[in-house]
Amino acid sequence: MRKNIVAGNWKMNKDHEGALSLTSEVVHMAGDELTDDVTLVIIPPFPFLKPVSSLLPEESHVFLGAQNCHWENSGAFTGEVSASMLASIGVEYVVIGHSERREYFSETNEQLARKVDAVLNQGMIPIFCCGEPLEIREHGDPYQYVTKQLTESIFHLEENEMAKVVIAYEPIWAIGTGKTATSDQAQYMHAALRKHIEERYGKDLSSRISILYGGSCKPSNAPDLFSCEDVDGGLIGGASLSSRDFVDIAKSF
Ligand code: 13P
Repeated sequence: MRKNIVAGNWKMNKDHEGALSLTSEVVHMAGDELTDDVTLVIIPPFPFLKPVSSLLPEESHVFLGAQNCHWENSGAFTGEVSASMLASIGVEYVVIGHSERREYFSETNEQLARKVDAVLNQGMIPIFCCGEPLEIREHGDPYQYVTKQLTESIFHLEENEMAKVVIAYEPIWAIGTGKTATSDQAQYMHAALRKHIEERYGKDLSSRISILYGGSCKPSNAPDLFSCEDVDGGLIGGASLSSRDFVDIAKSF
């Protein structure tokens, strides 16, 4: 059985106090309202990782994630944060290849492959993001575009490493736009991605990989999206900044 995961990518939002109060609320509500069937991941900006982690109970299904990391463990890379640093403070998930990093920081599939390796080498779980821009959705081949991202950044992994990866399909045209993919569009792409993984790694492994949907996911559309056979949860941006919305999304399975 694959895991149902709802991960909140706060992006570059909140201050120290806001990060602490949002985390406390989520932990509290999750304890009262959610079963162990859902894994929650809180993904704050780097400065808040440690303070947020201090609020996560040991025995809980709320985990800590980071938004990015460098592929080297240490060195002269001013402004960067390594996977080993993140592991050393208890981070368990790391988002790799978010479309905002690809677009604004020119991250390439090849660099992302190295980042995925760095995360796995530190015993953490990469949440590998993929997704097509609007031009490709309207005039190109979204399947080909997205499967190339997988092939070039994660298909070098051995089976035992691939089995740990979480994938997030985030169509760029749906991110922060209020324009969600329909459940049919999401299911079609998720099933296609799983098939692509099956062709490389076999059915057993592909059926165990969690594939999350991201892009204007909110409490009103999450039940529809999460009811799709191949949608195993969500990577949530804007709605993860509200504890109520984030936990309501996690209640949508
Ligand atoms: P929104 O939920 O704000 O559209 O963002 C999605 C996203 O980019 C999560 O990583």
